[in-house]
Parts: sequence; structure tokens; C-alpha cells
Amino acid sequence: SDPHLVERARAAKAKLGDKVFVLGHHYQRDEVIEFADVTGDSFKLARDAADRPEAEYIVFCGVHFMAESADILTSGRQQVVLPDLAAGCSMADMASAEQVAECWDVLTEAGIADVTVPVSYMNSSADIKAFTGRHGGTICTSSNAERALRWAFAQGDGAQQKVLFLPDQHLGRNTAVRDLGMSLGDCVVYNPHKPNGGLTAAQLRDARVILWRGHCSVHGRFSLDSVAEVRERVPGVNVLVHPECRNEVVEAADYVGSTEYIIRTLDAAPAGSKWAIGTELNLVRRLANRYADQDKEVVFLDRTVCFCSTMNRIDLPHLVWALESLAEGTVVNRIEVDKETEKFAKLALEQMLALP
Ligand code: 13P
Ligand code: SF4
Repeated sequence: SDPHLVERARAAKAKLGDKVFVLGHHYQRDEVIEFADVTGDSFKLARDAADRPEAEYIVFCGVHFMAESADILTSGRQQVVLPDLAAGCSMADMASAEQVAECWDVLTEAGIADVTVPVSYMNSSADIKAFTGRHGGTICTSSNAERALRWAFAQGDGAQQKVLFLPDQHLGRNTAVRDLGMSLGDCVVYNPHKPNGGLTAAQLRDARVILWRGHCSVHGRFSLDSVAEVRERVPGVNVLVHPECRNEVVEAADYVGSTEYIIRTLDAAPAGSKWAIGTELNLVRRLANRYADQDKEVVFLDRTVCFCSTMNRIDLPHLVWALESLAEGTVVNRIEVDKETEKFAKLALEQMLALP
């Protein structure tokens, strides 16, 4: 990266000292990660955000829903800055507050809203988190989805109980099937673009998990062919994928887990082992470099390039701009959730932090 910009970022950060706390998600570019005080998966960053109360500013190098969650969890006491406002998440955009309210009406009409607990993936807007909190549900991330689902099913009595899982159908399905031992037939997909979600009341009543029809376009690109191809190309390879991948990919893989799990697994892997990783490319490249001198071969699961374009919007020029503005006393790109939304979204986020 441009040495001049690196110097400016260093100077602005030094000037701000303890006033600023920079968080970096594992999918961020190397040039940004270099300036992060803490890196992590979405769960770790949500916890860490509230960890530095003395910092006036939190600069969130990640995507919009993460910055919103940081603002909610710190109750607006700290000012949260997202260096580029265009860093959204296409998955989070797949569930709007109106669509989810309409879905709840459909469940009510089918007579199952009373026995349904919403479980929403962290990758959702503050509005969806507030909906979740209002209806007694919880947020989850890819590192605690199993615990979240078990908790949700324990909220009612047995066979009747249902979960509405938003907005990532793959994480919901993978968790229900792999971790809770349900069958694919226990899950139905609610399509917000069709009347009644494209489901009959009988289908809704028979289902145990109602999956929102959302997905991650980055992880959606991995296929059974990618797995077959890499097994042939790299004999003896271990395939390790993120649970946002499709169920068939997850079933064909050897290991499945969040970004933090992926890093831990590679850390513990023996020298000489080979790994194909199915997640965002910035992280995979960083891991490939990190482990190269430990004789662990790390390759990307697919032959095509697969960055998350919105994570990538946060680059060094944007970070420098945000830090220099703060150092001069101007808060730019502040992410602020309104108080009413915050109140209920916080209930759902705190429920996640309290999961057994
Ligand atoms: P985790 O960091 O929780 O594994 O999530 C990945 C992701 O897609 C974040 O957008
Ligand atoms: Fe959203 Fe997928 Fe990018 Fe994560 S990797 S921020 S889920 S688009």
C-alpha cells in the first residue's frame, strides 16, 4: 500500500491515542487490518465493541450491520464511524422491516406466531434485530447459531415450537440439519417476494424451521464442483468452509465454522497438512501467507476470485480520511440507531450474549 497513506494513518492514530478504538473484521483488506486494535469474527467484534468504554470513537472496519450493532451495544455512548457508508451487506438487504412484518402476519394467520421464536443472524439491519427483540427472539452469529437454535426451541413446549430464521437460509438450514439433527424436510423457505411467502398454511404448520430466503452472494459461489475440483487438484486436502455456504457444499466439506473457527483450526493444524478454504478471499490469502513458512498449504476453494465487494470498500484512503477527520475533531460517517429501534434490538443482542 501507498507509504504516504500508511504514514498518515499512523500519524492520525497516534494523535487520537486512546480516544479511538479500531475494530477490523477478518474479511478486511490487509492494509486496513494493519491498523486494527482488535480483529475478529462478527461475534467477537460485537463483544469487543463494548470493551473499551474510554474510547470516544469506534472506527468499525467491517460492514454497516456490524457498525449498527456496535452502536446498539454501546448505547450510543461512543460514536461509531464506518469509513465508507457504501459498505453494506447484500444478505442483510434481503430482509426489510416491511417484509418481515408481513411475514409475521402470515405466520399469525396460519396460527403459528405464538409458537414461533425469531432467530436473526447478525447479518441483518437494526430494524430486523428490533423485530427479533420485540418477539422474544435472539440474534446469532455463525459461531453460536447452534446454541441460539437450541435456546429458541427450549422457549416452548416440544414438538409445537418453531423458529423463524432470518435472513440467511443456508446458515439456518445447515445449523438445523447438521447440529440439531433435523431433516431437510423440517425446513421450509419463506420467499418474501411471493404472496404468503409462497407457502400454504399447512406447510407452515408442519415446518419446524421457517427459513427466510436470503443468502450471501460470496459464499453462494462455492459449489459441489469446487469441492470435487480441489480434491482432485490437491490430493489429501482438508476442505474447510463457512456455514453461509449451501448445504450440499457443507455436507461435502470436512470442517465447517465461522471465520474465527477457521483461523483456530489452521493454527492447530499439523505441519504438512493441506487446506482448501471456502470463505472470503482477503482472509484466505492472509492465512495462506501466514502459514506458508509453517509448511501448511492453504488454498482458496474456488478457482474464481471471490472478495466480498462491500467489505472491500473499506480501504486505506477511506480509513485515513476517517481517522484524520476524527483527529481534527470532525466525526464523519457516524452510524447511529434511533432509540426505539435500539431498545428492542439490544434485547435481542443481549439475549445472544447471554446464550448458555
Ligand atoms: P463471521 O465472521 O461471524 O464468521 O461472519 C462472516 C460474515 O459473513 C460476516 O459478514
Ligand atoms: Fe454480507 Fe456475504 Fe459480505 Fe458477509 S461476506 S458481509 S454476508 S455479502
